[in-house]
Amino acid sequence: MPRNLIDITDLSVEEIDQLIATAEDIIANPVKYQDACAHKQLATLFFEPSTRTRLSFESAMLALGGNTLGFSEASSSSTAKGETVGDTIHTVSCYADIIAMRHPKEGAPFAASQFSEVPIINAGDGGHNHPTQTLTDLLTIHREKGRLNNFTIGFCGDLKFGRTVHSLVNALSRYDRINFVLISPTELKLPRYVKEEALKKKGIPYTQTTDLESVIPQLDILYMTRVQKERFFNEEDYLRLKDSYILTPEKLENAKADLSILHPLPRVNEITVAVDKDPRAAYWRQVKNGKYIRMALILKLLGIQV
Ligand code: CP
Repeated sequence: MPRNLIDITDLSVEEIDQLIATAEDIIANPVKYQDACAHKQLATLFFEPSTRTRLSFESAMLALGGNTLGFSEASSSSTAKGETVGDTIHTVSCYADIIAMRHPKEGAPFAASQFSEVPIINAGDGGHNHPTQTLTDLLTIHREKGRLNNFTIGFCGDLKFGRTVHSLVNALSRYDRINFVLISPTELKLPRYVKEEALKKKGIPYTQTTDLESVIPQLDILYMTRVQKERFFNEEDYLRLKDSYILTPEKLENAKADLSILHPLPRVNEITVAVDKDPRAAYWRQVKNGKYIRMALILKLLGIQV
């Protein structure tokens, strides 16, 4: 059976720490890895739009000396003719050594893994999970803070549909002394199943609020998110909620001097461009980290040691 990454908990904490160590080594010694995946093929099957995830996977495989194939929208694949996910995956696993797949339906990458002879990576499934964004976030936190424990992190925005939040809360719940602050409009709270599984069952403390400004002084990390327009059932609700939080330089005046601001991106309106100049804005460094941690992940799932 191939090794897949469908949910972040498919990786143990020790394996995540090892992936971070490999990513750090790749950053320090890129030439060492440049032929590691020679003659290997990565397929990127994106049934939903993407900039960072798809291109960082492709860039990662190319930097490892491998090749890529795939599609960036369902309409250019035989899905448009009615082919099932199972048959698509069965086909692609005849051509590729590893597959990164994004799909609007929750659980689609897991279903795909039942038909594949090669590793499947969940590159985002609906409003459910996004484990490789979480690996990116963990590498970023490790690089910014030097640790993955003992901090207060605020998640702000659309915690209901934000799949990156669900996966990161799950991941961080396995590290020590993390204090979770959940900041969202009432309608966009973290789903009960995520709170139950990741926090309540383990007795991990968390607070919920609608007010970013009242909690910003206590945060070591602020994880901003976009309100996920594509997951709303009606436009009226989206328009009412989309600008619930807009981070500006003024709002950061009361924040810690060593705050790290993360955002999985894309952003719409929730962080003004003026914040980009603040040294605490880590989201562009986060984008870069996404390539290196995906290089480490490809190596791991292909069983290649450098
Ligand atoms: N963070 C992220 O998943 O970005 P894309 O949607 O551009 O891939």
